[in-house]
Amino acid sequence: MDWGMKNRLSRIIKPETGKTVMLAVDHGYFLGPVTNLENPRKTIEPLMDYADALMLTRGVLRTSVDASSPVPIVLRVSGGNSIIGKDLSNEGITVAIKDAVRLNAAAVALSIYVGGVSEHQTLMNLSKLVDDGEEYGIPVMAVTAVGKELEKRDAKYLSLACRIAAELGAHFVKTYYCEDFERIVRSCPVPLVIAGGPKLNTELDALNIAYDAIRLGAAGVDMGRNIWQSPAPIAMIKAIRAIVHENATAKEAYKLFEETKNKKG
Ligand code: R5P
Repeated sequence: MDWGMKNRLSRIIKPETGKTVMLAVDHGYFLGPVTNLENPRKTIEPLMDYADALMLTRGVLRTSVDASSPVPIVLRVSGGNSIIGKDLSNEGITVAIKDAVRLNAAAVALSIYVGGVSEHQTLMNLSKLVDDGEEYGIPVMAVTAVGKELEKRDAKYLSLACRIAAELGAHFVKTYYCEDFERIVRSCPVPLVIAGGPKLNTELDALNIAYDAIRLGAAGVDMGRNIWQSPAPIAMIKAIRAIVHENATAKEAYKLFEETKNKKG
């Protein structure tokens, strides 16, 4: 791996722990104004200090994040679909690699829809993006399906999708936690981070998922709704950090969540 690529990756996956807490706020690209992300700046600003990286679109980056921010950007560069459209998997590359360079992106992110109607197109999107990323030294994160496509959330499906992403050259992969998660980790030769998925009933549920994923070999989380749809988002991201970077158990992290929340975290 070239120096620039390594340098960018090390801004996201922290060399001190080999892990990362990415904050995902890119949901609007196909979901529109999701609950608690209606005003992106209002959601993002209080959490910035606790995020190792911020995953978002160029529209939200340019309008809602100060350019003086030191937090590395993982730029979503796929889209062209919507939750009410006919084929969620019908995505293209929405951002030229030169704009990603202009925005000083530390990585670019794109969804693939293995088994989806537009499977081939999204895998070719990934391959093209990896070519561009290699040329400019920008790592590519492949995201294994979102939305309705997630009905296929099991280790058999996700290990297939993650492995294909790695084979096509993705430098890291974002997937979902599921039973038998170690099977996905074992068969994927690049680092894996997990999304949180839709808001779970309790904060402890989300902390349990993060803890299990880290214990079984994930390189971190790229979490959104289970942080900023929590009534105490700062307390929640701090609790997630304790699991990812400080080896806290889910129970210890939950205790931290409660303490921080009560201090108005
Ligand atoms: C899909 O909407 C995006 O790629 C999100 O970034 C991803 O699903 C992670 O966010 P969450 O933890 O809310 O699932």
